[in-house]
Amino acid sequence: MQFEGKCALITGAASGMGLKFSESWAAEGGNVLMCDVNGDVLREKAEEIDKKGPGHALACLCDVREYTQVRAARDRAVEAFGSIDIAVSFAGGTAVRVRQVDRAKYPEFPDVPIEVFDWGLDVNLRAQLYVAHAVMGQMREQKSGLVVNIGSITGEEGDGYGVEYGTAKSGAMAGLTKSLAQYGAKYGIRCVCVSPGPVLTRPAMANMKTLVGRAADPQEIVDLILYIASDKGSFINGTNIMIDGGRGAMGHWN
Ligand SMILES: NC(=O)c1ccc[n+]([C@@H]2O[C@H](COP(=O)([O-])OP(=O)(O)OC[C@H]3O[C@@H](n4cnc5c(N)ncnc54)[C@H](O)[C@@H]3O)[C@@H](O)[C@H]2O)c1
Repeated sequence: MQFEGKCALITGAASGMGLKFSESWAAEGGNVLMCDVNGDVLREKAEEIDKKGPGHALACLCDVREYTQVRAARDRAVEAFGSIDIAVSFAGGTAVRVRQVDRAKYPEFPDVPIEVFDWGLDVNLRAQLYVAHAVMGQMREQKSGLVVNIGSITGEEGDGYGVEYGTAKSGAMAGLTKSLAQYGAKYGIRCVCVSPGPVLTRPAMANMKTLVGRAADPQEIVDLILYIASDKGSFINGTNIMIDGGRGAMGHWN
């Protein structure tokens, strides 16, 4: 019950790690505003979590690419739960994987419609700044809070297919995280980026190699973020934490 009475604003909460985080947070007594574009699934999952308790869960239809919707989500969280103690931007993904297209059949960079790159940069990068901008006003009043950005090992590696993804999850994410941590320091607000390697939110991720010989269970990433949010994690700030089974340390001989 370590998060009893605390409020989390979670984007991408209808699926994968965002959903797992919402479940875990509520299981520890926290309240959660679950934001996603996938309304039907979101409502169903939020009802399940709320029923199970002990924390409360509310569904909030929100396209994170639209700042007015992100602001509305912020207002809804504060209205319902009285504060925002943590915001995590799980909403995102790469068009190659979201569309579950075989890489060999995916069009080459100049042949992919430019709108795909607009979408990828908006949802993976711009939206994380939108979330931070919306919640940090509230956190400034509270004089506390944690903003968690979600990066990816792909930001280090690049991706000749998901060019928008390799770009959005790259150094820009680290710069955003450091900048927000610098701004937030005088108000007791921390900002941390968590960058997973392959995570089994979809089975195909098992094909990506790591030094430990497997992809991550989504709960392993969620547990790291819960630790950062806990009292024990309070010294972690302004940094990017890779959680990738050693994939980033693999040599060309692996
Ligand atoms: N799964 C992996 O292997 C992996 C590895 C590294 C990083 N990540 C990152 O972690 C995050 C979560 O990944 P996941 O695998 O759990 O994802 P997922 O695909 O299971 O869930 C993503 C959720 O985001 C929602 N979403 C998409 N666009 C949205 C928008 N515009 N507004 C609001 N919600 C939107 C989707 O509806 C979905 O519910 C993503 O940012 C992803 O890029 C994933």
